Amino acid sequence: MKFVNLKPIIYVGLVLLFLTSCGENKSTQNNPVEKSINDLLSKMTLEEKIGQMNQLTGLGLSDEMQYNVREGRVGSILNELEPTVINELQRLAVEESRLGIPLIFARDVIHGFKTIFPIPLGQAASWNPSVVEDGARVAAIEAAAAGIRWTFAPMIDVSRDPRWGRIAESLGEDPYLTSVLGAAMIKGFQGEDLSAPNSMAACAKHFAGYGASESGKDYNTTWIPELQLRELYLPPFIAAAEAGAATFMCSFNDINGVPSSGNPYLNKTILRDEWKYDGLLVSDWGSIEQMIPHGVCADLKEAAELAANAYVDMDMMGFAYINYLKELVESGAVSEKIVDDAVRNILRLKHRLGLFENPYVEVLDEMPFYTESSLQKAKQAAVESAVLLKNDGNVLPLGSKVKTVAVVGPLADAQADQVGTWCFDAEPEHSVTPLTAIRNEYGKKVNVIAEKGLVYSRDKDKKGIERAVNAAKRSDVVLFFAGEESVLSGEARSRADISLPGAQSEMLTALKATGKPVVLVIMAGRPLTIEKEVKEADAVLYAFHGGTMAGPALADLIFGKAIPSGKLPVTIPRMVGQIPVYYAHKNTGRPGANVDLIDDIPVGTLQTSIGFTSYHLDAGTTPLFSFGYGLSYTNFDYSDVKLSKNTISRGETLNVECTVKNTGKYDAAEVVQFYMRDKVAKLARPVRELKGFEKIHLKAGESKTVKFSLTEDDLAYWNEDMVKRAEPGEFEVWVSPNSQTGKAVSFYLK
Ligand code: GLC
Repeated sequence: MKFVNLKPIIYVGLVLLFLTSCGENKSTQNNPVEKSINDLLSKMTLEEKIGQMNQLTGLGLSDEMQYNVREGRVGSILNELEPTVINELQRLAVEESRLGIPLIFARDVIHGFKTIFPIPLGQAASWNPSVVEDGARVAAIEAAAAGIRWTFAPMIDVSRDPRWGRIAESLGEDPYLTSVLGAAMIKGFQGEDLSAPNSMAACAKHFAGYGASESGKDYNTTWIPELQLRELYLPPFIAAAEAGAATFMCSFNDINGVPSSGNPYLNKTILRDEWKYDGLLVSDWGSIEQMIPHGVCADLKEAAELAANAYVDMDMMGFAYINYLKELVESGAVSEKIVDDAVRNILRLKHRLGLFENPYVEVLDEMPFYTESSLQKAKQAAVESAVLLKNDGNVLPLGSKVKTVAVVGPLADAQADQVGTWCFDAEPEHSVTPLTAIRNEYGKKVNVIAEKGLVYSRDKDKKGIERAVNAAKRSDVVLFFAGEESVLSGEARSRADISLPGAQSEMLTALKATGKPVVLVIMAGRPLTIEKEVKEADAVLYAFHGGTMAGPALADLIFGKAIPSGKLPVTIPRMVGQIPVYYAHKNTGRPGANVDLIDDIPVGTLQTSIGFTSYHLDAGTTPLFSFGYGLSYTNFDYSDVKLSKNTISRGETLNVECTVKNTGKYDAAEVVQFYMRDKVAKLARPVRELKGFEKIHLKAGESKTVKFSLTEDDLAYWNEDMVKRAEPGEFEVWVSPNSQTGKAVSFYLK
């Protein structure tokens, strides 16, 4: 028997063993989940790996779907909603596929599953992270009971263009407010333990820059300099990653010509290398395939190659990976390491959700939908989401002198429209409308006359207006519920004219002509250009689309059982031509001031006589209502702004405090806002930037000292060297009720 000198083989084996153990990074060795992932990965064929990267929309228990699941050709299914079907598909995956890897079931649960909360833009008007977290928690409990363990929310695209239909899903125009509320929503969806059966993986979307869609037209191109990307659009995603968002989603748009689904700088350099994010990145629906119409890929194979090499882990309904990734890996066009890393991210999510241990949903006799607790949370959210924009003569809250109210308008009793966009699973019959709530809650106090006047928001048939006018004449106060049908906002629902649709404005004029006080309540998915209507109405309550319990919330606000506390999370323009218009604007070299408006210009005026500053002749220098604006039934006085120091050094923290007093007669909440300005910097800085806020509750006559702080990082901005850095010099701060008022107080950074 010939002895073979085994030493060299043993030596090489030991070296290889050492290298592979180094190859598995330290965390793998010490982390049982990572070890389990790598063990499973090592058993998977290339086809099975690619199957995990494929996400399909539900087809029930069709033969095609059963085949895909059994063969391991699908890693996640969205839009499957029947728990028994979900469990059968899961059984096929766990018990009949070769490796038994469980599926993740996903759905867009954006602002509620069955109990619908205000649209996210409305929730943002609450400036209340706990309201937002509560809403997401209720949504998770309801959706997870149906077997949904992954939602495609929060949508944290900073949105400054109200023409864009998806502003409805956003948390508004400010990166700081969006960051804080987006993190709260993630916490609500994911709960304390992501593996708990009533938790859902959140999805920070759409990564990135989608809110910059040109002209507010959905899916449109964006042109975003990296400085603006870093300063405006990315901060909420950093906050989401820090909040533990389990997944991210690519955006449809291109940034400067590069679609996000094919953008390795965004998805690898920033997301993975800079932020060390280890969650899953899923494409948007067909966004990989859509790189063909984008004009950056000739065919689906190229799209699969570009997306895989741009580190998109999972292909939602694009059929790119499942059809072409195998040959791309075999040809070397895509490395198998990229596939392995993608599959690790997918398996890690499944571990974090506890699906390997508990893959099935408990089929309940009674689903936890519409519980009293959930409905009360939805009502509270709707109360806090309403913004009081005008209240001349304190017409609100309605007092005991009001014996008869006319409840009119196309949104007064519109169960399907009041829940707003992106609530596929809502059941309109559960919506409590303003008319129903006023009748039920206040019908003993006042006589209610109801006349829609217009059947729906776009209705141009004015024949019903006369009946509404007659109702108004017989009333003491007119409550006009106007706005947008839900279909006029959301995805692919952009409007070039964002005025009140249909004949609503004419209807308001006719109601006003009766001489009765008119309370205008707007239920919409975006800011609307309502300058004329605000002038005509005596009071204006902007309620966005308030969800299932919008009616009871608005009834309580109108009759004073609840006090408005909402503040605008987005600017309301006077006219669409002002867009983009937002509070954190630059000052320019000729800031607009003291201007003559177009109708004030005397005939024959010389070209040079009405000044040269930055404004529109027909709109002036300001929007209709600014970010952060909102009234109450009481008043708040801000005083004694104090700084801990007048000059701070690098690394020091500046503390700021202010006394706020409720000087009115109602106990109420106030959102105290904290803004900063860098007065002189190498790059021109915004005239104000939100750096903090606190919602406080004050009894009539009560005062409270509110405290904020600024660190050096808060003073920093991304500069021309692509470095985030604070510059020495003068800064100003405000503690104020909105983005336009308050007294500036200066301090210096040495
Ligand atoms: C849609 C949306 C995205 C959503 C996805 C799944 O097109 O852009 O926000 O989560 O498809 O429905």
